Amino acid sequence: MATTRDLLPFLCMFGSALAVYKQWIPDTNFENATNWDKGSVPCGSDQVVFPAQGKVAVYVETAHTLAGMSLPVDGEFILASGAGFSVGEGQDPGCGAGVTTQFKEFDSLKWFDPALWKAASSVDDLQKGSYLFFVHEESVPCHQDDVVFRDASSFRVDVSGNQNTVSVKSVSVLRQKFSSNSDFSQFMTSTLGKLLFHGSSSLRVDEPSCKDHTGCECGNSGNRERICANVECSHLDCKKPLRPVGHCCDVCGAIVTIQFSTSFNLDSYRQRLQHLFLALPKYKSIQMAASKVPKTHRLLGVIPYETSHDIQVVLLDQNTGSESGVLAEALARDILKDVQDQGSHLGIDSADFHASSGASGSDVAGMSGGDVAGIVLGILALVTFLAVIVIAYHRGLVRMPRLPSLSRWKKDNEIDELGGPIDHGFDNPMFEKSQALPEIPGLYGTDSLNGITLTHSGVHFVNPVYDETDFNA
Ligand SMILES: *[C@@H]1O[C@H](CO)[C@@H](O)[C@H](O)[C@H]1NC(C)=O
Repeated sequence: MATTRDLLPFLCMFGSALAVYKQWIPDTNFENATNWDKGSVPCGSDQVVFPAQGKVAVYVETAHTLAGMSLPVDGEFILASGAGFSVGEGQDPGCGAGVTTQFKEFDSLKWFDPALWKAASSVDDLQKGSYLFFVHEESVPCHQDDVVFRDASSFRVDVSGNQNTVSVKSVSVLRQKFSSNSDFSQFMTSTLGKLLFHGSSSLRVDEPSCKDHTGCECGNSGNRERICANVECSHLDCKKPLRPVGHCCDVCGAIVTIQFSTSFNLDSYRQRLQHLFLALPKYKSIQMAASKVPKTHRLLGVIPYETSHDIQVVLLDQNTGSESGVLAEALARDILKDVQDQGSHLGIDSADFHASSGASGSDVAGMSGGDVAGIVLGILALVTFLAVIVIAYHRGLVRMPRLPSLSRWKKDNEIDELGGPIDHGFDNPMFEKSQALPEIPGLYGTDSLNGITLTHSGVHFVNPVYDETDFNA
């Protein structure tokens, strides 16, 4: 046990995997006062009633004296050492006159209820109460998450989902961590397993961990409606409420959208924002959710043709009225400034934000190797685009009477726009590929969609650095 703990910091240092732990909040413990209809734990001369048809496992931590107890048909006590029941009247000082107390029913608590989970980046953080905030879809365990049920506790959770199985990376139950599905499915067939988990889907622990430092998509969008059915949205009083990806409700605050490169590390960026900004007294009240979200690119704004990913940073402040979202907007501006100064070292290409106050802005990370690569890619895309036009022209697919002037325009324009130093980019061997491209069959065939796709992605790459209109002209 100790060795695993000692190893953890090293694993984190080498950044082996991005881990998020999600802990189930409710329990069915005997000693939890909220589990009893009278709001207090029964004692002394109390009569205890478990609903006859209720199926439940109940964790008992200590010894109890009671007047009597009626048990359910299907149930189980999990007794900690020293725990137990004895029957006798009124030996318990400080205990009331004796009432009949009923244990609540727990069949309705759902796995896909985002309010019933807490998240943290380590088990330690879960214990310390250092929690992470997430949008609704990601408050529920994601595929690559480790699921934790508190050590000394019993529970009952309905794992019904839209698919036959609900899959996560691991599940920890009563001090036992299951990472192999054969062990876990064996546990699930036991009486205890069936009391703890019920519902139409079966829980599995066969998902791999997230090995992508830039983050992994949560994978809960298939159960979005199920998740949102458990959420009640509150009334908002900001000018332009925002809807974060993966969230069930509009929010007042700000959303920063980040375009990242392969050197980006979501976990360390989350920590950076935490230490640099959220730790400041003025930003104390802000809730931040940072995650990788899918973005669908649409042809002419309608037809989806490609999905890429962004990092979405949702910032919520607790202010109301005219102050609502103002603090979040200020933080969004600070984050964009940080991107401008340090983005290139953080693997961030560009970022933009939208705030519920109506404000928005964007920034490109300072010049770096990554940016130069971005520019080269942008030029490559442009040259490819022109090559496609030339090929199409030669095949007679496109009529373009004044092609020579087009290539002159291209040359002049690029030299004007980019100035001297970028010019040597044309010596880059990568450009030889653009001459090879037309020989790849199919890629530039009669499918006109391909041409348009490339055009679009060309503009997409170039856009952050240049004025888009230069290329549309
Ligand atoms: C008792 O149960 C409630 C709700 O299920 C939970 O929030 C709380 O943490 C539990 N209390 C203890 C002491 O575990």
